[in-house]
Amino acid sequence: MSRLAHKTAVVTGGNSGIGLATVEAFIQEGAQVIFTGRNAQANQRVEQALGEQVHGIVSDAGKWEDIQAIRAQVEAISPKVDILFINAGIAQFAPVDQVSENFFDKILDVNFKGAYFTIQALLPLINDGGSIILNTSINAHLGMPGASIYAASKAALLSLAKNLSAELVSRKIRVNAISPGPVATPLHTPDKFGISEDEFKQMGEGIAAQIPAGRFGAPEEIASAAVYFASDESRFLLGTELIIDGGMATL
Ligand SMILES: NC(=O)c1ccc[n+]([C@@H]2O[C@H](COP(=O)([O-])OP(=O)(O)OC[C@H]3O[C@@H](n4cnc5c(N)ncnc54)[C@H](OP(=O)(O)O)[C@@H]3O)[C@@H](O)[C@H]2O)c1
Repeated sequence: MSRLAHKTAVVTGGNSGIGLATVEAFIQEGAQVIFTGRNAQANQRVEQALGEQVHGIVSDAGKWEDIQAIRAQVEAISPKVDILFINAGIAQFAPVDQVSENFFDKILDVNFKGAYFTIQALLPLINDGGSIILNTSINAHLGMPGASIYAASKAALLSLAKNLSAELVSRKIRVNAISPGPVATPLHTPDKFGISEDEFKQMGEGIAAQIPAGRFGAPEEIASAAVYFASDESRFLLGTELIIDGGMATL
C-alpha cells in the first residue's frame, strides 16, 4: 500500500505503544518517518528494527529547550513535513485532594503545553495541505475518579483541533483528533500510572468491565485511524474527532 507515498511524517512519542504502531503503519504506507522519545536506546531499537526510512530524535515534550530545538532537529533530516502526529503523553491519576502543583504541571506540560508548542515550532516546516493529528483520550468525554487533570489535558487538545483548523484552513492544513479508549500498551503499568499494584489491578478490572466490545483496543487499531487522517482520503475533515473505544463512551 502507498497511501502516504512521498510524504514525511513526524510522530511524537514513537518508540512504544500507539506511537510505535503508527510509525510502523506510516512506513508501510510509504512515508518517511521522524519520531521522538526521551529514551535514546528505545529510539535506536526502533530505528534498527524499521530501517532507513525511520529517524529517531531524542526530545522531551515536557522540556522547553527540547521543544525549541525540535525544528532544527527535524529540518536536519527533512526540510518539509506533511504529517504531524502529536502522540507523546503521560497518563497519571490522583484524586483531587492529592493533586499537587507539581503533578498538575507535569501532566499539562507534556500533554498540552508540549503539544501546543511542538505544533508551533514545526508549523513553518509543514507543507500547505498537511495534516496534524492529535492523540487525545476517551477521558476527555468521561467522568472518572482520579482523572481530572489527565482528562482536562486531553479535552484541551479537542479544543485545539477545532481552533487550529480554523486558523490554518487558509493553508489547507487540517487538524483532527483521535480519542482512544483503553489500548493495550506499555502505558498500562502501575509505575506509569503513578498508582499501587492493588489500585492498578482494581482499575484494570473496572475499566475492562466498562468496554462493551469486551476487550482493550490494540495499538494498530489506533494507527489505522492515524493513517486515514494523515492521508488525502480525509481531506474534507477539519477539527473533527474519531472516538475509538470499543463502545466505552459511544454506547
Ligand atoms: N494506552 C491507552 O489506553 C491510551 C488511551 C487513550 C489515550 N492514550 C494516549 O496515547 C498516547 C500514547 O500512549 P501509549 O499507550 O502508546 O503509551 P506508551 O506505550 O507508554 O508510549 C508513550 C510514548 O510517548 C513517549 N513519551 C512519553 N513522555 C514523553 C515526553 N515527555 N516527551 C517525548 N516523548 C514522550 C514515550 O517514549 P519515552 O519514554 O522514550 O519518552 C513513548 O514512546 C498518550 O498520549 C496517551 O495519553 C493512550
